[in-house]
Amino acid sequence: EPGKRQRLLEANRIAGAFFAEQLLSPEAATGRAFLAERSFDRNDALHFGIGYAPKGWDGLLKHLRGKGFTEAELTASGLVSQGNRGIYDRFRGRLIWPIRDVTGETIGFGARKLYDEDQGPKYLNTPETALYKKSQVLYGIDLAKRDIAKNKQIVVVEGYTDVMAAHLSGVTTAVATCGTAFGSDHVRFARRLVGDTSAGGGVQLAGGGSSGGEIIFTFDGDAAGQKAAMRAFGEDQKFYAQTFVAVEPSGMDPCDLRQARGPQAVQALVEGRQPLFEFVIKTTLATYDLDTAEGRVAALRAAAPVVAGIRDTALRPEYARMLAGWLGMDGESVLRAVQSAG
Ligand code: CTP
Ligand code: MN
Ligand code: MN
Ligand code: MN
Ligand code: MN
Repeated sequence: EPGKRQRLLEANRIAGAFFAEQLLSPEAATGRAFLAERSFDRNDALHFGIGYAPKGWDGLLKHLRGKGFTEAELTASGLVSQGNRGIYDRFRGRLIWPIRDVTGETIGFGARKLYDEDQGPKYLNTPETALYKKSQVLYGIDLAKRDIAKNKQIVVVEGYTDVMAAHLSGVTTAVATCGTAFGSDHVRFARRLVGDTSAGGGVQLAGGGSSGGEIIFTFDGDAAGQKAAMRAFGEDQKFYAQTFVAVEPSGMDPCDLRQARGPQAVQALVEGRQPLFEFVIKTTLATYDLDTAEGRVAALRAAAPVVAGIRDTALRPEYARMLAGWLGMDGESVLRAVQSAG
């Protein structure tokens, strides 16, 4: 129903303004300190619409009731939770990021905890609602869409603060998923935005000219980030050669990087991207000692199935040759290993 949708959008709009205003309150000093520690100033907060959800249980609830919203509408908006004794504010004592759709409408919120005594997760998002579908949401898409289309590039970072840091560093094609993996809905959307019409088929080799766009993942250098990269590779071969990974060796995420080394370091991270295939193979090889024959054989045994798993059989010899180069082995024996691993 269009009427209902408009009401939910209105509730989100009012909530966003409420949170933004609360960021100026005495209680929100913790939130302002968090932003300052991350080198985000007042202008940055305004640009991204950052807010603060007060600790009380019904600040927003009362505000929205005062604007005429019914309990059913509040529940449908995901802004309140249902308890034994009625509804209460979902977000309390947290820093707030409004999550907007491609047209700039606020459809939900991401919220980071600020107080150690808060037992909840570090990040809490709007639950699934008529407006907010987490498998489709990309934080920052409203700000990034124009440059994504223009540059035929989309940079996927992990968190809200990373999107902010990227944009403020000149990487204006950055977006983030919100508490979920970059899934098939995101891939489809991203491919369409970068103008890639070959989705599904065309795998291109590293260094080969690419008419479609680039998807660049900047996973954290931590274990979770590595796992995310391997998952991206394993789940969807559409990713291959036009998909890149940019990982900072120190493990810093873009927000850390901007703080520690400045905006140029964030740009350099993206420029230093490597093809996803290369990243996955090199990550696999890194656990072996390639200086010994035994190590090389074991590494080949681990890496061969990855190459054998490439759907486009015509490309396997090419990738086998790259693998041989990284292993320092002859191409023929690597190709044989790939063929027998398939
Ligand atoms: N995330 C989440 N729930 C958590 C932890 C993380 O939804 N409990 C999501 C958030 O979107 C987060 C992203 O995963 O931004 C990456 O996690 P992490 O690297 O821990 O978060 P940072 O954004 O780096 O967190 P911080 O605010 O501490 O910099
Ligand atoms: Mn009020
Ligand atoms: Mn992490
Ligand atoms: Mn991080
Ligand atoms: Mn971080």
